[in-house]
Amino acid sequence: MKLKKLKSSICGLFIIMLLALVNASCSNGSNEDIVSDYMVTVTAGEGGTAISERISYVVGEEVNVTATAYNGYSFMGWYEDSNLLSTEISYTFNMPARNIQLQAVFESVSQPSEKGRYLVVYYTWSNNTKSVADELCSIIGGNMVEVTPSTPYTTDYNTMLNVGQQELNAIDNSGIYPAINTKLDSFSDYDVVFIGYPLWYSRMATPMQAFLHNHTSLLSGKKIALFCTSASSGISGTVTDARRLCPEADFLESLRIGSSSADNSHDTLVGWLGRIGVAVE
Ligand SMILES: Cc1cc2nc3c(=O)[nH]c(=O)nc-3n(C[C@H](O)[C@H](O)[C@H](O)COP(=O)(O)O)c2cc1C
Repeated sequence: MKLKKLKSSICGLFIIMLLALVNASCSNGSNEDIVSDYMVTVTAGEGGTAISERISYVVGEEVNVTATAYNGYSFMGWYEDSNLLSTEISYTFNMPARNIQLQAVFESVSQPSEKGRYLVVYYTWSNNTKSVADELCSIIGGNMVEVTPSTPYTTDYNTMLNVGQQELNAIDNSGIYPAINTKLDSFSDYDVVFIGYPLWYSRMATPMQAFLHNHTSLLSGKKIALFCTSASSGISGTVTDARRLCPEADFLESLRIGSSSADNSHDTLVGWLGRIGVAVE
C-alpha cells in the first residue's frame, strides 16, 4: 500500500515536472518572444548615396548605415518619414521590432563667390540712400564714396521738387549736368562698383547722373550694380539713364528699396547680393 502511494506520488511529481517543461517550452515559443528578422531599407535623396551593411536584422542587433555626399552637396541627415533621426554620416542604432525605412537627405551647397573688392558710390538728399549704402558697406566690407553737389541743395522739399525737375530738363534738353565735387581717377581696384541714388521723377537723381557722365570712360567694361530708393516708383527709368551714361559698362541686376524700408534693408540686400554673386562677409 505504502509502495503504491510512493509510486503514485513520484508519478504525480513527474507529471508536474513534465507539464512545467511543456509550459516553459510553450512560453519560449510564444509569438511575442519569437526572434524575427526585420528589414532595413535605405534610400538616398538627390546629392549622394546611402548604404546599409545588410538588409535584415534581428531585434536589438546593431545596425549601421552610411551616407556619402557628392561634390557640391552636404549631408543633412537620416530621416524616417519626416523625422530626423541622426545627422551622423555613419549612423548606428539598435534594430527595433519592425521594418525600418531610412532616407539619407542631402542639400546642394551654394559655392560662395570669392571675396571681391567693392566700391559703393552714392548720392543722397534726405539720407534714405545713405542708410542703404551704409548697410551695404557693412555687409560687403567695401569702400564708400559720397557724391556731393558743388552747390548744396535747398533743404525744403517743395523747392527741391522744382530744382530736381529743372536739372532733369537741363540734362534732357541741353546735356547740362549739375556740378559735383566728387571725382575718382580709377575704378581698377574694384571688381564691382555699386551706384546708389534717390529716384527723382522716375529718373536717376541728377548728381549721380553727373557722376556717371563724368566717369563714362573709366567705367567702361566695369561691373556696375545699381540700387536706388524711392517713395513708390520703380527703378527701370533710372536703369535707362545709367545705360545711356555708361553704354560700355556691364550692368548687374539692379535693386530698388522703398523709402520706408531704407533703415531696414539688410535682408533685402543680402538676397540681392546672393543673386548678383557678391560674397557676404
Ligand atoms: C526731386 C524729387 C523727386 C522725386 N520723385 C519721385 C518719384 O518720381 N517717385 C517716387 O517714388 N519718389 C520720388 N521722390 C522721393 C524719393 O525718391 C525718395 O524719398 C528717396 O528715398 C529719397 O532718397 P534720399 O533720402 O537718399 O534722398 C522724389 C524726391 C525728390 C526730392
